[in-house]
Amino acid sequence: MHQEHAVIRSLTNLTPEIKRLTLHAPSICRDAQPGQFLNIRVDANFPLLRRPFSIFDVDGEEVSIMFNVIGRGTTVLARKEPGDTLDIIGPCGNSFLPFTDGDYDTSILVAGGIGVAPFPFLTKRMDAARRIETFIGARGKDFVVEGGMKNIHIATDDGSMGYHGTVLELLKEHLHTHDAGAARLFLCGPSRMMRAVAEYALERNIPAYASIECEMACGIGLCQGCAVESNGGGKKYFLVCTDGTIFDTRTVKM
Ligand SMILES: Cc1cc2nc3c(=O)[nH]c(=O)nc-3n(C[C@H](O)[C@H](O)[C@H](O)COP(=O)(O)OP(=O)(O)OC[C@H]3O[C@@H](n4cnc5c(N)ncnc54)[C@H](O)[C@@H]3O)c2cc1C
Ligand code: FES
Repeated sequence: MHQEHAVIRSLTNLTPEIKRLTLHAPSICRDAQPGQFLNIRVDANFPLLRRPFSIFDVDGEEVSIMFNVIGRGTTVLARKEPGDTLDIIGPCGNSFLPFTDGDYDTSILVAGGIGVAPFPFLTKRMDAARRIETFIGARGKDFVVEGGMKNIHIATDDGSMGYHGTVLELLKEHLHTHDAGAARLFLCGPSRMMRAVAEYALERNIPAYASIECEMACGIGLCQGCAVESNGGGKKYFLVCTDGTIFDTRTVKM
């Protein structure tokens, strides 16, 4: 893990609602793995706490995140300009990649909202020999990011793009009509959506791995503010920021 004062290279719009921020951060880029996050001090004074953002892409010495403006931190971030610097710590947390080891046919990526953020980088680094299907759920078309992913299926709450309904409904329909062979699910998004998909995966006996959503303070295992209860076994609790953020959904109370 590194701390860098990274220079902003660009801040662009991926959709009318979603922005992409690209930073020059050579040490972080060298070690970054898909599923990991950056803990960003968006401003020297306010807000005080860092904000975690999934790594959206790594290209040479440049790392990108994507975000939508919802509160104090992202409002400050959206006002930044190329040439400004940000104090960032990363790469933090574990990666999806170890969960892709082994013998199976199809990786099914399921994203809800901004949870799509780690999937372009994951798609780039996944074993190219294995099929990838990507399911994206969003509020409406202005929130749908598709770049860098494969075999995309879209569901929107308002029906403005793709299937009108939830991403889980779309996933169920797809698996009912298509043979994915031995599959694994990789999830990122709101807790409610991931819990529902994880329950479905359990019923269907499909292994599922989720990047758990929670509020974080330090992001590096010091404050104990991100504990989640385990489902038994050796540990009673896991820290999302250092034991995860990615867990086998059978091992944690989601
Ligand atoms: C591991 C991890 C990875 C993340 N990756 C990304 C990412 O790639 N892109 C991204 O945009 N965000 C991501 N987030 C969320 C991000 O860290 C911030 O919480 C979020 O951007 C809001 O920050 P803010 O300071 O603008 O909002 P705040 O001022 O902290 O909050 C404003 C309001 O928004 C609510 N809120 C805060 N976070 C969320 C949320 N995630 N969903 C809905 N409401 C929320 C708060 O409860 C509050 O009511 C990630 C979070 C984690 C834990
Ligand atoms: S956020 Fe501090 S221990 Fe996880």
